[in-house]
Amino acid sequence: MDGNGRWAQRRWLPRAAGHRAGIGVLTPLLETAGEAGVETLTLYAFSTENWARPEQEVSTLMKLFLETAREKVPELNERGARLRFLGRREGLPASVLEALTEAEERTAANDRLDVYIALNYGGRSEIVDAARRIAADGLAPEEVDEATFASYLYAPEVPEVDLVIRTSGELRVSNFLLWQIAYAEFYVTETLWPDFSAEEFVHALESYASRSRRRGGV
Ligand code: FPP
Repeated sequence: MDGNGRWAQRRWLPRAAGHRAGIGVLTPLLETAGEAGVETLTLYAFSTENWARPEQEVSTLMKLFLETAREKVPELNERGARLRFLGRREGLPASVLEALTEAEERTAANDRLDVYIALNYGGRSEIVDAARRIAADGLAPEEVDEATFASYLYAPEVPEVDLVIRTSGELRVSNFLLWQIAYAEFYVTETLWPDFSAEEFVHALESYASRSRRRGGV
């Protein structure tokens, strides 16, 4: 969800106003995802690297996550979405963790759309955490294949990623779902996240649908 800061700067507003505007995109996005038959949607809300931002921005973001979790959960529930947290729990404020756990519990029985919130998430941390748990479980080297490794990731049930959408024109992966995007398609748009519309989401899905995925074959 990139470009909130620039969206705000272009309007002479504080960066927090951009993040707030970014939240407005969530409802039309979730609605459209459900209608289009998307089964899993992961939103990259805060990376392990984002702690390096000024303290005030970090605390504003944490407040916004808390507010958003409280405000959007009833709506998510109505739409049949199941919310799951993806990331390292250590380091996040207890209030944010509590709100997320409550949201997970309240929406656990829904099955229309799985929504993952990547928070304090880093693809490398996820891989390191998986390796640590494999070592802690005492697996022998020959027991570790791709399927076993994948079963140690934060959310092993997350399917491989089909499409990554990156807003604000950045041509980077930025530590997002490194294991799961091995064969993902990319859709990059100059649009800043707060301006990302349901129409453009559909356009991204159509772009994806028109591609031929060879996965290393011919
Ligand atoms: C990146 O834009 C955006 C973020 C770090 C925060 C995204 C969070 C939200 C939109 C709130 C949604 C909340 C939930 C729980 C889903 P940036 O600040 O890097 O923008 P810039 O690249 O223009 O500076």
